[in-house]
Amino acid sequence: MPVLMNKDLLQFHLQGQNVSYIFHVMENGQLGQLYFGKKLRDRADFSHLSKRETRVASSYIEEDPSFSLDLIKQEYPGYGTSDYREPAFQIQQPDGSRISNFTYRSFELVKGKPELPSLPATYVEKEDEAETLLIHLEDAYTNLALTLMYTVYHNRDVIVRSSSFKNNGDLTHEIKRAHSASVDFPDADYEMLQLSGSWSRERHLHERRLTPGVQSIQSTRGTSSSQHNPFLALKRPETTEHSGEIYGFSLVYSGNFSAQVEVDHYHTSRVTMGINPFDFSWKLKGGEHFQTPEVVMAYSHNGINELSRTYHELYRSRLSRGVWRDAERPVLLNNWEATYFDFDEEKLLNIARKAKETGVELFVLDDGWFGKRNDDKTSLGDWFVDSAKLPNGLPTLVRQINDLGMMFGLWFEPEMISKESELYRRHPEWVIQVPGRSHSIGRHQLILDFTNSEVVDYIYERMAGLLTESNIEYVKWDMNRYMTEVGSLQLHSDQQAEVPHRYILGVYDLYERLIATFPHVLFESCASGGARFDPGMLYYAPQGWTSDDTDAIERLSIQYGTSMVYPLSSMGAHVSAVPNHQVKRITTLETRGNVAYFGAFGYELDVTKMSDNELNQMKHQIDWYKENRTLLQYGTFFRLLSPFQNGGNETSWMVVSKDQKKAIVGYYQVLAEPNPGFKRLLLHGLDKEQEYCVSGYKETFFGDELMSAGLQLSSGYDGSQTGGLEESGDYSSHVFVLTGVDQGRGDKS
Ligand code: DGJ
Repeated sequence: MPVLMNKDLLQFHLQGQNVSYIFHVMENGQLGQLYFGKKLRDRADFSHLSKRETRVASSYIEEDPSFSLDLIKQEYPGYGTSDYREPAFQIQQPDGSRISNFTYRSFELVKGKPELPSLPATYVEKEDEAETLLIHLEDAYTNLALTLMYTVYHNRDVIVRSSSFKNNGDLTHEIKRAHSASVDFPDADYEMLQLSGSWSRERHLHERRLTPGVQSIQSTRGTSSSQHNPFLALKRPETTEHSGEIYGFSLVYSGNFSAQVEVDHYHTSRVTMGINPFDFSWKLKGGEHFQTPEVVMAYSHNGINELSRTYHELYRSRLSRGVWRDAERPVLLNNWEATYFDFDEEKLLNIARKAKETGVELFVLDDGWFGKRNDDKTSLGDWFVDSAKLPNGLPTLVRQINDLGMMFGLWFEPEMISKESELYRRHPEWVIQVPGRSHSIGRHQLILDFTNSEVVDYIYERMAGLLTESNIEYVKWDMNRYMTEVGSLQLHSDQQAEVPHRYILGVYDLYERLIATFPHVLFESCASGGARFDPGMLYYAPQGWTSDDTDAIERLSIQYGTSMVYPLSSMGAHVSAVPNHQVKRITTLETRGNVAYFGAFGYELDVTKMSDNELNQMKHQIDWYKENRTLLQYGTFFRLLSPFQNGGNETSWMVVSKDQKKAIVGYYQVLAEPNPGFKRLLLHGLDKEQEYCVSGYKETFFGDELMSAGLQLSSGYDGSQTGGLEESGDYSSHVFVLTGVDQGRGDKS
């Protein structure tokens, strides 16, 4: 029973595999936090975990000076009585008051996990995987109801939380803030981890020591953004990848979010996470209901890597859906960096033919196939094939690609519209806009008003038409600008601050309808690379384009950071040409492959311009990847050396099969070192009793040796002027395959 409770004292104990989360109904009827952390044995009464104290200069209820909310850990705090910290919610009432008092009414315990209406969410396949506790509260004065939902999975270390408001009265109220969850920690001795960056350098890992005040990350851009991912973690200063305590908070949402930690004057820490309250409000009319997205809170006392594995396993098996969830992802070739907008049928077919020879399984036609799109200034919204480029039409091209023995994939940017388009000429009112204000432009384009179901219906019809008339088995769903002049012509003036959330609901609606109608299609999400790489998207698209930056060395930081939360099967990773188009760096084809293997692998270059030698190498890479892809996409992932530590010159990571009989290790060096010290890689996740062959080594090693003594790396440096660059020079890399001796050798070369 993962939800234990004392019905008399109204205490609730959620017990995951190694985690406990305990709260209760306080003397004022509101919910108080008692504990979140390493699993505790259950007992009848936990109320001693929250001691009341009287402090000078606090506000309290008249009858009891020790009852000051400012001094008490709470579950879903409001502002306006005696707590001065950041609240989880705020509701403005018709009389102008912003004070609410939600007190306990009842609880409900359900098997499994209910779906969240219109929102992406983690799920169960069997009812006995999890239990969900619903706590119903009510503010009698306003007739508003609040339900807090908690799911605990039996065999995982996660607690999933969300909240919903219901207006049981007749008057309209305005929700000014509705976070998904709030957690009060009793101290502030933590470091906050966050994944931040920008276009082409997304999700770099940043750490900071908590200090008094609010430390926060957010998006105001209309998508989760490449600036900050909707994730934060609190770890103890001594916590490492493989030891120590860490708490993760990951929001299953793709729009404007806020995630913050407030350290108060008593050195306690309050984490709040949810839809960004900045520039947000929501009118809740009588009878209406508002559901927040969910936060997945994870816990580990065995370090950062275990926390990541908890997220990987949950997100790849109980957030991603559909036939592609567990299927091997095809090796793809995308024509974007090969041709950009400059292609015709013949050029595409030439690329596809060569790609087929190397073993590519899926040919993806990127931007530029529709309207008159010869550059990025025009035609978004005109989802009709450009007959100047493809005079025989899309079905013919798709057939020819299929005849070569490859699947066909197509790029869309469904949410966008170019000013220079037929659609804009017909429907200028379908654009996100504020009357009387000029439009700011991003990549020459405007955003369609996805709060308007007529717009979503139209785009659905166009996409569904194209997906029906040709055998399209993959869709790359792109999104290339952030929101400005946020407003909708079809919403009332007092609902304009609802636009960003309603927009994302429109995006989810379109995704849901498309995957329901075309369940066989593999969707890959994309937003100028990784500007919307979040758990919300994973519910619809099991893989995402990790970054527009395809440089192997930059990708080390991006993929390493992304792996904090997201599984390898979700990370699109391509080998591209050199000099690299984003940073002009030249790396070997081997290193580009060695980095991209750890993801949903593909190529993004003009194969018709490659030498026979390179094509051979590419074929070899694809053969090897196919042999190992189940392990690479679905194995257990361990980070070994961080590009964010020790100067970042070395990165290493590995995947291990479920039965621990096979593992693949990637090791990467940025700059060569003269006469370097001896290096040993300490591996993880192996069976200590298992004897392994390691590719490139004559000896065999037992798992315990590899994990405790390590794998000694050959420096490849003997001071002579000979020896290949690949071996030990700048941007060199190695992939080692470990195979249980009873399994036969799995050498890479
Ligand atoms: C941005 C994407 O991230 C790229 O991969 C490519 O699809 C371009 N858009 C096309 O415009």
